[in-house]
Amino acid sequence: MKNFAIFILLTSFLYFNCGSDNRPDSEKKDHNTSHDNHGLSDFEFENGIGPIKQKIDLPPLNKAMAKDGEKIFSEKCASCHKLDERYVGPAQRDVLKRRTPEYVMNMILNPEEMGKVHPEAKKMLAEYLTPMPFQNVTVEDAQKLLEYFRLVGEDK
Ligand code: HEC
Repeated sequence: MKNFAIFILLTSFLYFNCGSDNRPDSEKKDHNTSHDNHGLSDFEFENGIGPIKQKIDLPPLNKAMAKDGEKIFSEKCASCHKLDERYVGPAQRDVLKRRTPEYVMNMILNPEEMGKVHPEAKKMLAEYLTPMPFQNVTVEDAQKLLEYFRLVGEDK
């Protein structure tokens, strides 16, 4: 009987303890369903839809990759994007101030679905009136582009 009482005490303690949410805000967002996500999960709402399905633990900036990214950018993106001016698409220097790294990669890797489904990408499409086409880039290319955006976005 005594053991049972301890058991009850323990479970109610655990129960109330779980009720208070001590997780960091970033994690809480993933479970908070009180806001309107337009049918997307919280992760998708913040980080886009595509092959990147988890937060990336960003390593320190890799300048060699950024250099490769710059080359890819001039070959496959510069026809529509400039760093500091609006062009066919939005200026890109500050893209990481607007979007998460995962969002940027999903936009690069899956722009067509993003433009159809994601509320932020839909807003941009409505503003720029040109859908961004997939540029036949690999996940590695997208990582290099991300490093390039990290590099050019510094000190600004
Ligand atoms: C044919 C023109 C075109 C090309 C080529 C293009 N984009 Fe875009 N991009 C756009 C447009 C237009 C938008 C705005 C969203 C939309 O209308 O689909 C956009 C949006 C984006 C966004 C989202 C910006 C934001 O603030 O949400 C990123 C990131 C992006 N492009 C990166 C790239 C990269 C990297 C490449 C090269 C691999 C590239 N784009 C190639 C036209 C283009």
